[in-house]
Amino acid sequence: MNKSLVLCKPDAVHRGLVGKIIARFEAKGLKIAALKMMRLSTSTAEKLYAEHKGKPFYDLLMEFMAEQPIVAMIVQGAEAPRRVRVMLGDTMPWNAQPGTIRGDWGNHPRLNLAHASDSDESAEREIPLFFEPSEILDYMRCDEPWLDQGD
Ligand code: CMP
Repeated sequence: MNKSLVLCKPDAVHRGLVGKIIARFEAKGLKIAALKMMRLSTSTAEKLYAEHKGKPFYDLLMEFMAEQPIVAMIVQGAEAPRRVRVMLGDTMPWNAQPGTIRGDWGNHPRLNLAHASDSDESAEREIPLFFEPSEILDYMRCDEPWLDQGD
């Protein structure tokens, strides 16, 4: 099963949308394999967004993300990175389709509520920035036989 690192960003925490966001993944049949509330250190934010360093929005993105409350989770399931990104919608909330998290609640390219790994490779790089192996739980949901097994 594939994994995606998902962050409910500070705007989701401050706007009280974390529960609604998690509920969408659960209802879709994706498994929450790890979950924690934390403040994102500047150093972790820099590592997470290393590829964006130098872009015009980078400094404000760091200011927005670092030292703020976020909720980090691992969402697991067949094709999890691709499916979670579809559920998030376009990075630019005004391009995001209704029914997606950003399409329904997003307001600004930076204040776009959630981050999710864009591939299995990104998830492999991002997950260890947030979770120790012992914090990732292997368990079976009772509805798993009725969900996409990746076959
Ligand atoms: P995320 O999916 O976390 O990955 C990079 C983040 O940079 C993105 O979500 C946005 O929060 C932010 N971002 C991307 N493009 C812009 C932009 N044009 N202006 C402001 N912030 C942006």
